[in-house]
Amino acid sequence: MKRPIVFVAGTGRGLPEKVLRNEDFPAMGLDTSDEWITSRTGIKERRISGPNDTTCSLGAEAARRAMAKAGVTAGEIDAIVLSTATPDRLLPSTAVDLQAELGATRAAAFDISAACTGFIYANSVAEGLIATGMAQTVLVVSTERMSSIVDWTDRSTCVLFGDGAGAVVLKPAPAGSQRGLLGAFLRSDGTLADLLYRPGGGAKIPFSQQVLDEKSYLVKMAGREVFKHAVREMAEASDRAMDNAKLTGKDIDLLIPHQANNRIIEATAKHANISMEKVYVNVERFGNTSSASVAIALDEAIETGRIREGMTVMLVAFGAGFTWGSMIIRF
Ligand code: ACO
Repeated sequence: MKRPIVFVAGTGRGLPEKVLRNEDFPAMGLDTSDEWITSRTGIKERRISGPNDTTCSLGAEAARRAMAKAGVTAGEIDAIVLSTATPDRLLPSTAVDLQAELGATRAAAFDISAACTGFIYANSVAEGLIATGMAQTVLVVSTERMSSIVDWTDRSTCVLFGDGAGAVVLKPAPAGSQRGLLGAFLRSDGTLADLLYRPGGGAKIPFSQQVLDEKSYLVKMAGREVFKHAVREMAEASDRAMDNAKLTGKDIDLLIPHQANNRIIEATAKHANISMEKVYVNVERFGNTSSASVAIALDEAIETGRIREGMTVMLVAFGAGFTWGSMIIRF
């Protein structure tokens, strides 16, 4: 097992107040039901941004909480690595808006785009910055306003997603410490990009009346194909991370999978030989918050005592790209 280079010094989350329940959809003109959504996904409700919530503001709330728990001031942050699929603007990055909001004037700030796997990618990038001595204190923020990119008339996608943010502060692990990041695995396959994407509104197909009329700036998803790949690739990611850390399912005290769908979560746990009592699930309350999902769950698990000192926790995620990855952390 490798010696940890970084440890999690603090975690936080930021969620909009507004709750949208499955029962609310029919009144919005959508032909769906609580029974359909619950049986297919496990989702009962999700948080939806109000007019004052932005990807940056949700991220800032999560970041401030993580910094408070880590005992870190804005001036101490060397880098902000922010993952999002829903940047507030296409230019500049949401990370620089967050930097300005926090007053983290010494930090280098940038976004990374890895969809739902973004939190795991961002933590790996942060670990690399610390390993090379480029940074000592890194703020990782995963923040999403999925409600701004779903088609609210498409029942096969809009019921799945929600808004929210999670954050961690990473710092160098003290010499000899066993606490920290024990191993990770990252992978992607761009040949499958068109199974879950937003075709219009970027540089290739710039905004036009046609993009608006065809709603091609909103999320399109081949649900069944995504489901199959998510099950397969999250299983691979768990295997590889445990193998890298020389651990097996028996050594994992808590599994925190990407919160997209109960059936995918259960399949991932079964494959990794981890019983459902050792799996953190909050998909029923938040739906799929893309890269924020694992980060929010991690913060909740610490706050509610599901994660205690000495525990070994595995994070695993899958998302558009496709991208997938996993990470093992000892607390
Ligand atoms: N309410 C009622 N009926 C619906 C709804 C809805 N909200 N959505 C779809 N349907 C209907 C479809 O129209 C279809 O009807 P038809 O047979 O008359 O055409 C029927 O239900 C079955 O549709 P399927 O898409 O085949 O349903 P499936 O059982 O595959 O479940 C689901 C759909 C839940 C989207 C599933 O495919 C899934 O979970 N896929 C993974 C999606 C996901 O998690 N994506 C995110 C992961 S990656 C990331 O986070 C970026």
